[in-house]
Amino acid sequence: MNLSNLVLYITSLLWLNLTDAKIGYFWHITDLHYDPFHNSPELHRGCRHNRGNNEHSHRNGRHRDHTCDSSWPLIQSAAALMAERHPDTLEFVLWTGDILSSSMEHLSEEIKLEAVRNVTDVLSRTFSSQFVFPALGHNDPAPSKRLVDMWMQWLPTEALQTFETSGYYTIEQSKSKLRIVVLNSVLWAGGAARTDGPHRGRQQWEWLEQILSKARRRNEMVYLVAHAGPGVEERHNAGSSSAAGGGELTPTANARLVHVIRAFSDVIAGQFYGHRHADTFRLIYSEGRPVSWALLAPSVTPRGAGSTSNPGLRLYKFDSNTGKVLDYTQYYLDVNNIRGEAHWAIEYNLTQYYGLREISPASLDALAEKIRNHHDRGVFAKYLTALRVRHAADVAECDSACVHVHFCAITRADYHEFRACVRNPASALASRAAQNSAAILLYAILILLKS
Ligand SMILES: *[C@@H]1O[C@H](CO)[C@@H](O)[C@H](O)[C@H]1NC(C)=O
Ligand SMILES: *[C@@H]1O[C@H](CO)[C@@H](O)[C@H](O)[C@H]1NC(C)=O
Repeated sequence: MNLSNLVLYITSLLWLNLTDAKIGYFWHITDLHYDPFHNSPELHRGCRHNRGNNEHSHRNGRHRDHTCDSSWPLIQSAAALMAERHPDTLEFVLWTGDILSSSMEHLSEEIKLEAVRNVTDVLSRTFSSQFVFPALGHNDPAPSKRLVDMWMQWLPTEALQTFETSGYYTIEQSKSKLRIVVLNSVLWAGGAARTDGPHRGRQQWEWLEQILSKARRRNEMVYLVAHAGPGVEERHNAGSSSAAGGGELTPTANARLVHVIRAFSDVIAGQFYGHRHADTFRLIYSEGRPVSWALLAPSVTPRGAGSTSNPGLRLYKFDSNTGKVLDYTQYYLDVNNIRGEAHWAIEYNLTQYYGLREISPASLDALAEKIRNHHDRGVFAKYLTALRVRHAADVAECDSACVHVHFCAITRADYHEFRACVRNPASALASRAAQNSAAILLYAILILLKS
C-alpha cells in the first residue's frame, strides 16, 4: 500500500466513524394485562362473556380471543418471540405499564404483586443482560418497597429513590447523550389519583422541568416514556358529533404537558406511550410548526377498551449515540388464525409501510396530511389497518367526518384544539389549502374556457 492509498484509507475510516450512526435497538412492550385466572371458569373475571358461558374456551384452542385479557401462554409466546428476534445490539426495553388485567382490580395486593413478579421473572429471563425500564399504568400496583425490590435489578439507586415514593425516574446512559425520563402518568390522571396524588403530581412537574432543563444544559437528548401521554382518545369520539375530546390525563395536566413538550422540543428526541391499545401517533405543534412526535404502541392483550386489536410487540431501531429513532418493526399475532398456534409475525416496518424517508415531526406531519386525503384513501386504509393491528379494519365504515376525527386526534393534542378541529372540518382544511387554491383556480378557468 503506497502512502496516498494509506492516507485515503485512514481518511475513510475517520469519515466512517464520524458519519456512521451507532445502530442500536430497543423493544417497546405495553399493556400486557396479564390475567392469571384466564383459564379458570369459576374465576372468570378477565373475559367479557357471562361467567357461565364457556364458549370462548372452545372457540380457540389456545384460549385466546378478543374478549379476554392475556393468558399466561400468550405472555410466554410474546417473550419467546422477543428472545428469538433478539438483536445483538439490543440496548434496553421500555415497558409502559398496565401489567395486570383490570379484572384483578379488586383482588388483594398480595396476588397482584405475585402476578407482577411472574411477569417480571419472564422478562428477566428473556432480557438477561439488558435493563428493562418499567412505567406504571392505572392497573398496576402503586409504587412501593416491594415493587422496588422486584425491579432493583434494572434500576440504578438514584432512580429507585424517586420510583419508590412517586413512580417516576430518569436514566442517564453512561455511553451516550441519551436520557430516558419515565413518568408516572397515573399521578396526572383524573379518576385513578391516589390519596397523595395531587401532591406527588405537583412534584412530578417540578422534577420533569428540572430534568429537562438539565438535559438541555448538558446537550442530552431525552426520550419521554409513560403509560399514557397527552392527547385525546379518538375512538370515543369518532363518528360522534358531540366529540367530548377527553384523554387519560386531566385537562389541566394535559395542557401543561403539551406546554412542557413544546418548550423543550429541542431536547425531546421522542415520546413513547401505551395505554390506548392502538397503534397510532401524536404530533405537537408550536406556532403551526410540528416540533415533537409521540409514537403509541399497541397492547399485548387482544382485549380492547371499546374496540379490539391483535396483540403487538414493537422493536425500535435507533442511533444510540444521538437517540434519533430510525425505524421500528411492528410484530403482531393474529388471534383468529386457524393454526391455533401463537404465531407471531412481522406486521410492518414504519418507514417502508408509509414510505417515510425519516422519522421526524415534519415527516409525520406530512403523513397525517396523507391520512386525511379525501381523494386517495389508500394511506388512511393503511393507518386504520395498523391502528387495530390488522384486526378487522373496515375502512368503508369510516366516512369523511370519521377520517377527520382521526386526523384531529393525531394533530391536536390539546383538548380544546381537538374539539375545535372536530367541530370545524372546513377551517382545519383551509389552513392547509392555501397552496392548492391557486391550482384550483387555474383548473376552474380551464374548465370555463373549455365549455
Ligand atoms: C406465579 O407463578 C407460580 C409458579 O409458576 C404459579 O404457581 C402461580 O400460580 C403464579 N401466580 C400468578 C398470580 O400468576
Ligand atoms: C422489516 O425490517 C426487518 C429488520 O430490518 C427485516 O428483517 C424485515 O424483512 C422487514 N420487513 C418488511 C415487511 O419490510
